[in-house]
Amino acid sequence: MVKVLYIDCCIRREESRTRVLAERFLSALRSKEGYQLEQLCLMDEPLAPLSEGFFAQRERLLAEDKRDHPRFRYAHQFSQADRVVMAAPFWDLGFPALLKLYVENICVDGVTFGADENGTFGLCKASRLLFLTTRGGDYRDSPFEMGARYLEALCDFWGIPRFDVVSADGLDLGKEPVRTILDRAIVEAIRLADEF
Ligand SMILES: Cc1cc2nc3c(=O)[nH]c(=O)nc-3n(C[C@H](O)[C@H](O)[C@H](O)COP(=O)(O)O)c2cc1C
Repeated sequence: MVKVLYIDCCIRREESRTRVLAERFLSALRSKEGYQLEQLCLMDEPLAPLSEGFFAQRERLLAEDKRDHPRFRYAHQFSQADRVVMAAPFWDLGFPALLKLYVENICVDGVTFGADENGTFGLCKASRLLFLTTRGGDYRDSPFEMGARYLEALCDFWGIPRFDVVSADGLDLGKEPVRTILDRAIVEAIRLADEF
């Protein structure tokens, strides 16, 4: 069984166009044999930023090598997945802070990455991560796009060799109907599901 972890950061939930794209990808994946899907909806999780006591607790637990503490459950879940799918809208040239909170919580030394005298190395099992997103403007190949590019860099940090992004761009520009743009991205996503 291929364990797929789906991280849903589609803040607008049922209103979200990003979620429409993600659902079409996931239903294509579900129609294949041998995939076991685990979903994590970030809007339903008690994610907190690393600050004050929460930060201090983390430092203490890591110093004591207590990586089995429940607060590291997101990091363990992430590091054990065979494939990862993330869905989040394009916000403020990147992605919502909620997804950054998740990233902050899963970057745990000794679980998702390690460090030695040569620097850091990834410890995640996943062979690939797919990022699904929709954008108001058209940011394909734009140097101002910081969401997908940041996640791609993180994949390198986590030791995940392949990163793909499927984006529906220009949804708020009014140049083309939203449905047309979204359908194009859905076709691309379904094609990726075929070889995921
Ligand atoms: C808080 C917020 C910030 C946004 N920031 C950007 C932005 O920086 N650039 C852009 O092109 N669109 C931006 N948008 C528009 C969204 O990227 C676009 O509407 C997207 O399709 C929303 O996805 P959703 O339908 O899944 O919520 C923003 C929207 C919101 C609500």
